[in-house]
Formats: sequence, C-alpha cells, structure tokens
Amino acid sequence: MKILITGGLGYIGSHVTTLLLQNNIDVVVIDNLENSRIQVLDGIKSITGKLPLFRKIDVSNESEMNQLFDEFTDIGGVIHFAAFKSVSESVSEPLKYYNNNLGGLQQLLKQIVTRSIPLIFSSSCTVYGQSETLPIREDEPLKPATSPYGSTKKIGEQIIEDCCKAYPDFKAILLRYFNPIGAHSSAKIGEYPVGVPQNLVPYLTQTVRGIRPVLKVFGSSYDTPDGSCIRDYIHVMDLAQAHIESLDYLLKKKNVEACEVYNVGTGNGVSVLELIESFESATGKKVPFELSDPRPGDTVSAYADPSKIETNIGWKARYSLEESLYSAWKWEENIKN
Ligand code: WQD
Repeated sequence: MKILITGGLGYIGSHVTTLLLQNNIDVVVIDNLENSRIQVLDGIKSITGKLPLFRKIDVSNESEMNQLFDEFTDIGGVIHFAAFKSVSESVSEPLKYYNNNLGGLQQLLKQIVTRSIPLIFSSSCTVYGQSETLPIREDEPLKPATSPYGSTKKIGEQIIEDCCKAYPDFKAILLRYFNPIGAHSSAKIGEYPVGVPQNLVPYLTQTVRGIRPVLKVFGSSYDTPDGSCIRDYIHVMDLAQAHIESLDYLLKKKNVEACEVYNVGTGNGVSVLELIESFESATGKKVPFELSDPRPGDTVSAYADPSKIETNIGWKARYSLEESLYSAWKWEENIKN
C-alpha cells in the first residue's frame, strides 16, 4: 500500500514525507513545483536515505490525476497539502486561489471518494477568524473568512464533509493547523518562502541574516499583555507527527465519525514580542525590530485547545518554542540561495 502526498515538496508536506519514509511507509509525492523546489527531494534523501516516488503533477489537472491513479492502483491513503497559502496574495488574486485550492481538492476527491481512500486534509485555524473564546475548541462557531485563502479552507472542509455523507465508506480527518514554524533538526529541509516572506518567523530569520533591514512588529497596542498579537506557534516536526498519528488512526478505522476535525497546536499563546525574546535567548542572536502599524485582517489572539486530538488520537506537541526557533535559525543559516 502507498500513501499519496499532494504538495509533498512543500514546507509541511516535505516534513511529513520524511517522517513517513522513516516509518517505512511507501510514499508517492506529487507536486506542481509552483511553490516548491525539486531540490527538496535531495534533502529528504539525505535525511532518510530514501527517495519517494515523485511525479510532477498539478492536482487540479484532471487527466494528470487520472493517469496517476491508473499508474498507482495501491494508494491506500492521501494527505492533501497542495494549495496556495498566501493570505495577502489571495486577496489580490482570489480566482487563482479558488481555481487551485478548490479545483485541486475536487479533482482529488473525484479520484478517492468512490475508491474509499481515506483523506487527511490540511486546514487552518484561519477558519475561526477572531474566536470569541480562547483557547479555541473545534466546536467554536466559524466566522466569515477574512481572506479568500481562508474561504478555500472553510469551503474545502464543507466539500469534504458533504462527500463523507454522500459516500458512506469515504472517511476524512480535517487538521486545523495553528502557526507552523521551524525545520527538521538536520537543517536539510525547511520553510523556503518565495519572494518576501509574509509569515513572522521566516521574515525574522531573514532579518537576522541581514537579507531584510528590520523586522516590523505589526501592532503594539492590541488588548494583550504586551500589546502585540498572540499566536500558537507549533514546531513543524510536531505538526508532521500529528499527520502520521492521524493517518494511523484513520487506517485502523478508529475514527468514530466519518469526518473528524482536529486543532493542531501547542495550546500556548505567544506574543510577537515574546517570540522575538525567545528567539534571542535560543540563538544568542539579536533581532533588529521596530514597532509598526497593525496589519489589516490580523486577529488579535489565536491559540488552540488541543485536548481533542490528544484524547482521541493520542498526539500532543513536544517541542518547546525555543527548540522550534533554534531549528528555524539553523535552517536559515544553511539555506543556499
Ligand atoms: C503571525 C503574527 C502578524 C510578519 C497566517 C495564516 C495561517 C497560516 C500561517 C498558511 C501576526 C505578526 C508577521 C511580520 C509581524 N497560513 N507579524 N511582522 O497571520 O497568524 O497566519 O499564516 O499556512 O492560515 O492565516 O501568521 O506569521 O503571518 O503572523 O509582526 O513581518 O506575526 O501580525 O500577529 P498568521 P503570520
């Protein structure tokens, strides 16, 4: 049996692929290389000693997906990462996001629902918007999405839930990530932002490395202890492990409902200023930053209640914030431009 990883050369996907290979699970990776690099395969091989089967395929291309499932008739599970993920780009190019993120999901579902191949879907805490209650539980009412990117995650979840109802033997788990950061301890794979990083940690490490002049802290007068926004930063290796354990749970048919939703976070809320301090103590490096205006669309505070995944699946985050930030720095130092 093989596990199909769509977007398997991306940031999260490459870490999950690495862990699956290390668990001696056969993997087929597809990726259209629009937002990733073929060299990631070398990183995976140098860590695991193995190369996954790879096909350069666009998940939204029907004929390519038909060929894939004709070629590999022993795909026993799918982890779906392939999607664009820039909040700001989705605002300026919504159709690009709806076509790719939802078009791709639908092409994948057409292949797997009638074959009853179980699915792990990469969703996001962005579906909650600014949650009324903190920490955030899965039964928190979802708010209107604050970006087309967020809409593609919300609508994607709904499409999958509807398929689970229509096809009784099709099962799925929706994983709502909080803020993934860091890299594999080997520094051979990590987050490789295309262009100017939108996210905090890659922008911070590029600033420390001297690629960016200064890190702007977006907002310092929020209603939080130090005025900066609070998030739940989770080590990408903890997040990857959550996929391994969720897949095992699904393949062993331990799921109670056809479609189950889980938050994947540490449960710890950390402010931007606290993260900067943590980075400096973890690495001994100074972060040049300045307080700046709030970023439109930001939620003030978002961090998970991860008790449901811990109770049902047995997973919990293990890395500390310092370990996550240290690994992010080691990766930044090793990036070959
Ligand atoms: C974190 C905090 C910023 C940059 C988004 C998506 C989420 C997921 C992760 C894809 C915020 C502040 C940032 C900077 C800053 N997307 N910040 N200076 O917005 O919580 O989540 O990215 O997987 O779905 O919603 O992450 O890293 O952009 O921002 O002060 O230069 O850092 O204001 O408070 P975010 P982020």
